Amino acid sequence: MLSTPAFTVPIDRDSEEPIYRQLIRHVRTQIEGGGLPAGTRLPASRDLARQLNISRISVVNAYAELRAEGFLSAHAGRGTFVAGDREASAVSTNGTHAMHPATTELPTSPDRSLREMLRLARKPGVINFSHGAPPIEFMPVSHLRDAINTVLDRDGSKALTYEVPEGFYPLRASVRDYVSALGIHCNPDQVLITGGTQQAIDLVVQAVLSEGDVLVTETPTYLGMIDIARIRRVQLHGIDMDDDGIRLDMLENYILDNRPRLIYVMPTFQNPTGRVMPMHRRRQLLNLASEYNVPILEDGVYNEFRFEGEGLPPLKALDEKGIVIHASGFTKTLLPGMRIGYIIVDSTHYERLLRVKQAADISTPGLNQRAIHLMLERGVLAKQLERNNRELRRRRDVALECANKHLPPGARWNTPQGGLYLWVELPKTGPTAAELYVSAIQMGVAYAIGNVFYGNGSGGSFRLRMNYAAQKPADIEEGFKRLGRAWRELACDYADMTKEPIL
Ligand SMILES: Cc1ncc(COP(=O)(O)O)c(C=O)c1O
Repeated sequence: MLSTPAFTVPIDRDSEEPIYRQLIRHVRTQIEGGGLPAGTRLPASRDLARQLNISRISVVNAYAELRAEGFLSAHAGRGTFVAGDREASAVSTNGTHAMHPATTELPTSPDRSLREMLRLARKPGVINFSHGAPPIEFMPVSHLRDAINTVLDRDGSKALTYEVPEGFYPLRASVRDYVSALGIHCNPDQVLITGGTQQAIDLVVQAVLSEGDVLVTETPTYLGMIDIARIRRVQLHGIDMDDDGIRLDMLENYILDNRPRLIYVMPTFQNPTGRVMPMHRRRQLLNLASEYNVPILEDGVYNEFRFEGEGLPPLKALDEKGIVIHASGFTKTLLPGMRIGYIIVDSTHYERLLRVKQAADISTPGLNQRAIHLMLERGVLAKQLERNNRELRRRRDVALECANKHLPPGARWNTPQGGLYLWVELPKTGPTAAELYVSAIQMGVAYAIGNVFYGNGSGGSFRLRMNYAAQKPADIEEGFKRLGRAWRELACDYADMTKEPIL
């Protein structure tokens, strides 16, 4: 057995690269360059942390990731070694490949976070609470097949040519009928069909804001909006929330000083917190926006996912001044992959939005629009909502029970009355959500790291968002069990480390 008497790693404390990643890079380079031959024993994590004057968590995380990549192997009671046959050990027992070393990154910044989290979370065998999809096992696939066949028989190639940019008129009329049941009264000329809600909010950002303008959001907020703000080069400013949603005292001060051009909110089942803005706050927000003439972009994508409590009208339903632009879609409620969303907007912004839509993609695919239109006419959405919400409530109850049973003492979470997410806060005595992530993946469970929902990439260090809705009850139980185990293992190291200050 070989050992490493002088294991020096040039740590750059001023670098933006996290220390544990510098360590991974260095060990990897050494192994690949032959500086650390197979069988070499690496120092124990505590010793290396002390030697390099870094936290032991950094070493533990680096070793864990290098093990997952097949560079290192661990033997209980004997230590950590450079693996003999990296290629072989990088393939798991079920024959699937482990994460590719050159592309493996722990998500730490909003820019890279979503894609990297999702990539790591797609590892086979991982119970994935990280994404934003509704349960896929209930998707109305056969209804869609029937609808597509009917549309093709009925419309033939008309369904397959360019659609008008506003959208297929009968679908716009169906949207008008659908939202009128929520209290939004409009005519089809105020409805613009989009490629999902994501495109709806992107089009509004492009139509209303110019480069450098300020967009105000709740903080934390939807990661997709953070991405849009970066890509469109608008400044995103987050305003803190309380239990009732965005804080209006802070918002007013901010408006007075900075004159933002748009306020983006999710009043019902906010992503990621699951909060619902009560009626009085909705009215106050509308008054404030009208007083200062700042348009509100309301994202209503989770509005219909209520399985408990009284429904509240969307802001657009209360809007007498035409200050609210409402964006939503039939993605979460029906079929995410069909990419059908919509914007409801008064005439002031409609023409501009239409031009932006046309420039973006000419039109939303006509076949998809016609199929969704037929499904709405056939009452598929109503049945789907009923079934989804019944099941979501069951899954929510399982998730709450499992959180109680398996999450560490001191952890806290919300009790959602709808929506897809549990917003968890880990105890501050243990690892952060980002520190826990690699261990959790190795244990076979994934979640969304809280930091990514903060525009500046920090603020939710101990927070995780868990999509309980997407998993079957047995997997929810197993996933929470794994998460609890991953936390306890890392917390033990953490406790050791904090007992023993490293010089
Ligand atoms: C708040 C919010 N808005 C918009 C979207 C995008 O939805 P769609 O699939 O309709 O584009 C999501 C997806 O997660 C979301 O959480």
